Amino acid sequence: MGTPLEISAPAPNSSPAVAAAAPRRAPDPPATAAPKSAPAFIPTIAAPSLFEEKIENDSLERIRDDIGPNCTRCKLHKGRTKIVFGVGNPKADLVFVGEGPGRDEDAQGEPFVGRAGKLLTQMIEAMGLRRQDVYICNVVKCRPPENRLPEKDEIATCSPYLLRQLGVIRPKVICCLGSCSAQTMLQTTEGISRFRGQWFDFRGSKLIATYHPAYLLRNPAAKGEVWKDLQKVMAVLGLETPKRK
Ligand code: URA
Repeated sequence: MGTPLEISAPAPNSSPAVAAAAPRRAPDPPATAAPKSAPAFIPTIAAPSLFEEKIENDSLERIRDDIGPNCTRCKLHKGRTKIVFGVGNPKADLVFVGEGPGRDEDAQGEPFVGRAGKLLTQMIEAMGLRRQDVYICNVVKCRPPENRLPEKDEIATCSPYLLRQLGVIRPKVICCLGSCSAQTMLQTTEGISRFRGQWFDFRGSKLIATYHPAYLLRNPAAKGEVWKDLQKVMAVLGLETPKRK
């Protein structure tokens, strides 16, 4: 079956946000790289420290309050306009975890609303879902300057809030979008093509990593691989591929 993710590739440099991000963010591995078996050292359950101190009666509202409206815990606060907490169904079976807000997300305070976000929305709809059916969030909640990758200290500071969000939502499936998200969640430095499309257990959720939509905008040939990954997610969630009109 073909991929329904047929958004046309952008003309080079047609979007300042995406074009600026491309050389700075670590590129995901070549689309042609076949996933190999999971390396033995990738843990099936990462044990992030904050989970060890489980917060009783935690909620998304409490997490948002704990972050606060003017968080200055890491250096990303200096260039941010809005904190991008996360959006969607608090009881979602499926959570998408991206890397960090880009320019559009920083301006609007909502994750995945720019060009990559439009493609993510298309991916969600191709699965027969709507954006409001799933939950969408990021590893870091403030925009890295010039759309660079989030740095280690920023991830260490901010990811506990992501982990709390996941602990509250307790989705059936977590889908990591791109290397930063996948490596953070799986606590590995392995390249994403080594484990893309494979299932891991994460605190009672099933976790799968696929390529980031921004990578797909630059490498549309990888859409087929991503669609295969999404079909695996659909199978776990009992979703049927919607009939194409
Ligand atoms: N890329 C991400 O990883 N997250 C967003 O919210 C937008 C683009």
